[in-house]
Amino acid sequence: MSHALFNPVKLGPLELSNRIVMAPMTRCRAGEGDAPTALMAEYYAQRASAGLMITEGTPVSPQGRGYLWTPGIYTPEQVSGWGRIAEAVHQKNGHLFAQIWHVGRVSHTSLQPEGAAPEGPSDEQPEGASCFAYDQDGNPGNVPTSRPQALDAEGIQRVREAFVQAARNAREAGLDGVEIHAANGYLFDEFLNAKVNQRQDDYGGSVENRCRFLLETLDAVADAIGMERTGVRISPNGQFNAMPEDDEMEATFIYLAKELDRRAIAYLHLNDQATFGMPSIPDGFLPKIRAAFSGPIILCGGYDAPRAKAAIDEGLADLVGFGVPFIANPDLPARLEHDWPLNEADRDSFYGGGEKGYTDYPAHP
Ligand code: PHB
Repeated sequence: MSHALFNPVKLGPLELSNRIVMAPMTRCRAGEGDAPTALMAEYYAQRASAGLMITEGTPVSPQGRGYLWTPGIYTPEQVSGWGRIAEAVHQKNGHLFAQIWHVGRVSHTSLQPEGAAPEGPSDEQPEGASCFAYDQDGNPGNVPTSRPQALDAEGIQRVREAFVQAARNAREAGLDGVEIHAANGYLFDEFLNAKVNQRQDDYGGSVENRCRFLLETLDAVADAIGMERTGVRISPNGQFNAMPEDDEMEATFIYLAKELDRRAIAYLHLNDQATFGMPSIPDGFLPKIRAAFSGPIILCGGYDAPRAKAAIDEGLADLVGFGVPFIANPDLPARLEHDWPLNEADRDSFYGGGEKGYTDYPAHP
């Protein structure tokens, strides 16, 4: 008998063919108007033997962008592009959730409508954060993020509505659900962090207040498309994107996990940032999350087959996410199951470009 990692499993209304998840990964290959392309459809279809795939982060609005060439989900052309991807994936019996994304303060005026300041919980400028935008000479490159502006009450409502519309758009495109991106130093993670969130209103201060924006947005999204089709991604203790260490980390994420449990979301996805060269989720924290959240958990970040099997056997994970290994191995589930060798990923082609390092990795012969 093969390990449960390789066997079918139900995820809410979906029948997944295994417990292997393709993690969301920014690849910066969108076409005109930040619309998904035919090449992107080929890339996702090649990897459809994953039980579940999660798209690269897809901005919910022009203000939600922090990188050039990331495919959005707010214009009709973008939604049609995702529709072609959903069709290609479903033809291969795969399943695909859209990761819906607002980068918060991790952006640059050259990416924002009318050159406005990026939107965050507060107007404090993160030290050492960069994004991929236009430099002073108008050339694409890594640039320091611009000083953000604090979202006001109207802005919070606008962002919440943009997430709801993005979720509707994802379902209209035929995608199976959405994952709200609340990880990695982007908008919701910024609100969760007690050091970054300096707000004095209902969205800052106490644990409840710092979780409010995410939970209100989740409830509004779920009203539109269903809790069973709405997942949430978090990165407890993450310091990517210049996020400061937060003494309130444990209290915040345990409270959040209990609230997500009460709502019976589709899944809770935890990203360990060790693979980003950042601190890991602390030892002993995953069992606490497991105790607080009884629904499906996806663990991601630096897993190989033995660690993935162990996480499932220990009951800490229901599904396991793989990122970089999926870039280089379109047939990753079969390779892991049969212990076949893995292709090496070429880092130089992670972001931007065309087929090279994207759709040209071979399947096992
Ligand atoms: C990235 O572009 O490096 C990136 C984007 C979204 C994430 C993490 C990393 O959540």
